[in-house]
Amino acid sequence: MAAIKEAFIEFPEPFREPAGPCLMVIFGAAGDLTKRKLVPALYNLAKAQLLPKEFAVVGIARNELTTESFREKLKEDFATFLSEPVDQPLLDWLIRRLYYLTGTFSDPAVYQELGAVLTRVNKEHGTAGNYLYYLATNPTFFSVIVSQLGDAGLIAEENGQWRRVIIEKPFGRDLDSARALNREITKTLDERQIYRIDHYLGKETVQNIMVFRFGNSIFEPIWDRRYIDHVQITVAETVGVEQRGVYYEEAGALRDMIPNHIFQLIALIAMEPPISFDADAVRDEKAKVLRAITPIEPEDVLTRAVRGQYGPGRNGHPMPAYKAELHVAPNSATETYAALKLLIDNWRWADVPFYVRTGKRMSKRVTEIAIQFRRPPFQLFRKTSVDHLTPNLLVLQIQPEEGIKLRFGAKVPGPTVRMGSVNMDFRYADYFGTTPSTGYETLLHDCMKDDATLFHRADTVEVGWSVVSPVLDVWKALPPRSFPNYECGTWGPREADELLKRDGRHWRTIET
Ligand code: BG6
Repeated sequence: MAAIKEAFIEFPEPFREPAGPCLMVIFGAAGDLTKRKLVPALYNLAKAQLLPKEFAVVGIARNELTTESFREKLKEDFATFLSEPVDQPLLDWLIRRLYYLTGTFSDPAVYQELGAVLTRVNKEHGTAGNYLYYLATNPTFFSVIVSQLGDAGLIAEENGQWRRVIIEKPFGRDLDSARALNREITKTLDERQIYRIDHYLGKETVQNIMVFRFGNSIFEPIWDRRYIDHVQITVAETVGVEQRGVYYEEAGALRDMIPNHIFQLIALIAMEPPISFDADAVRDEKAKVLRAITPIEPEDVLTRAVRGQYGPGRNGHPMPAYKAELHVAPNSATETYAALKLLIDNWRWADVPFYVRTGKRMSKRVTEIAIQFRRPPFQLFRKTSVDHLTPNLLVLQIQPEEGIKLRFGAKVPGPTVRMGSVNMDFRYADYFGTTPSTGYETLLHDCMKDDATLFHRADTVEVGWSVVSPVLDVWKALPPRSFPNYECGTWGPREADELLKRDGRHWRTIET
């Protein structure tokens, strides 16, 4: 281990500097995201000395709270959401920097009041007039908040002070609404001020995909259609829809996971090497490869897309059907599982299918990308007792296991030629240990440092929607007849197996 540690590349100081002075404003501050992710992420950043000393947060929501009760509430929540012992002085430091304002997002008077609070807090904490607005609200408020901020003069960047806006997902619910939202917010904001967040890009293992591909010389030469047979991306969850029935009924598995999180994984796996790590260099390459995904034509939806909804089942204990969940219609046609066969029509990937699947209440929580290489020629083994060759497989494990596995064939010791499959196994925790992280630390820090590399640009959001729109349209026009079609605690509907079987392939078995 020591020898390996010596080989680590330490990034030079500028990469680890705290962000400059900043005042963060959280719209929807009384919600789940603030207590579960944002405040713990700010604490982790402070602990890593990456948060500026000149820092404060103003939370705003409809809930009748005061700054005092907001601080109290978050302090209590904090103990629940942090997995390690709390550094009390550090937490107190952070809590003293939290402020709260009650208000409705469509009321212009609230923004006048907000302006006054910001001026006061800014002065008190020396945040240099730099404002980071975080929209953690229902998406219906995104454009309202942006235009109200603009009208109140809270977006204009004067005297070197910056204004940035982080927008949570979902960014639109189809191509038209995403375009309309982009149009609306760019009336007030410059594209460079907009940070469309995707928490998948905050995951260490996701960020590592680029380093793995472009920081090593042995993978890139075989990273194309000549060597790769197909790619499988699995994002399986064991949870159901929890308290989010209202949102999920409108969204469904495809909208919720594919054009955003899964497309970002595809982009990182499939893009060409960017010329630098600059935000636009990376995002140009991502946009380029996503644009090369061939649209699924309406007549192909039945053979290239599968939807499912969970019925009752068991995964350790009995679980109800989706239709019996809170805020879900008893005759709901919303899918809780989606699988697609995608093709990228460019020189690197033509004819290499990317099979993606995601679902709730599946048998195991796992996110992984499995790259299956072409099978080797068999002739050499014809006169031996080897009857088939297992192709090489490279698995990038994103969560909960974090690591990289490479499967290859090896001779089973003994007098005859027999072959077995073995794995080279790398686990992050073994080399790097684990650091508590919510996944939001990097993203918040990047936004404070004006680095938009890990955020969606308008064009990548729109291209994501344009690929899945025909599927959404056909699914809407043809209500499902077989729902529910998979049991809780399984790997999804039978039709998903057929999606691969038609191509002579099968989903990889992920051990439970
Ligand atoms: C969110 C979806 O974006 O991602 C949720 O809205 C989903 O439905 C979640 O559960 C999954 O995130 P993670 O980080 O747990 O894989």
